Amino acid sequence: MMDIQPLTETFAADICGIDVGLISDQDFDQLYDAWLQYGVLRLRDQRIEEDSLQAFSAKFGPLEEAPFGRMSERDKAKIKNRYVTQLSNILVDGKPIGGLGNAEATWHSDMTYVDTPPPASILLGIEIPESGGDTCFADQCAAYDALPQPLRTRITDLTIKHNAAHTSIGTLRPGYEAFDDPREAPGAVHPIVRLHDETGRPALYLGRREWAYVPGLSLDDSEALLNELWEYAVLPGQVWRQTWQPFDLIIWDNRRVLHRRDDFDPQSRRLMKRCQVLSKTPED
Ligand code: SIN
Repeated sequence: MMDIQPLTETFAADICGIDVGLISDQDFDQLYDAWLQYGVLRLRDQRIEEDSLQAFSAKFGPLEEAPFGRMSERDKAKIKNRYVTQLSNILVDGKPIGGLGNAEATWHSDMTYVDTPPPASILLGIEIPESGGDTCFADQCAAYDALPQPLRTRITDLTIKHNAAHTSIGTLRPGYEAFDDPREAPGAVHPIVRLHDETGRPALYLGRREWAYVPGLSLDDSEALLNELWEYAVLPGQVWRQTWQPFDLIIWDNRRVLHRRDDFDPQSRRLMKRCQVLSKTPED
């Protein structure tokens, strides 16, 4: 029997009594509804292999392929779980086995710098450091609800350009050039307030603070507006902190929540496996 235990007043819930490797269609439907309702779900003790993580994640929709650089289609086809990526600071033969290292990742939702960002991200903790590396989530429906009416009115028809050039740990992505004016940042433009395509609820959709720009405003006005909005986006009462245990599985809705990650001791080991779900429509 699936048991749902809310973790805060507005979002995030623990799901107990489910093994995602063996989940029935009926239980998956209930889990999906809970995901839409709470925005973040945590399922503890999911001791699954990559195949099961990929198969479970694919129930949410088609998955995004892991980045393989210049590997040929033929070689890619030989990879068993090509939709599972790793986040890690672990080096093997001097090379990182995953992304992001041990650095802090600032507040963001995943890949908002593309026109059709992923709705769901699914992250499984494998190796967890003794301290640090917590992941925090902030409810953007609650953030929208907290906005004073004049600010809501002001942003009704405004958009944000979401910077594609930098990662959430501040490094420049391959193929992008450095710039020093947010107006020059490359990336997709989305409405500041996004209506969730499945629940219809309005949410702030800010992406990342760094290098963001509100088209149509002067740079100073854009910076001031974004700073004001970010105060509501991460109000302490709207933030939930995940302190990882091995085999915790977290599923979050990028249309509803922001997330960030604490840094951790580079001498410790952290390994996470992740799947991302492709959006079905540009509005997804
Ligand atoms: C991220 O997706 O930004 C990082 C999440 C994590 O490593 O906990």
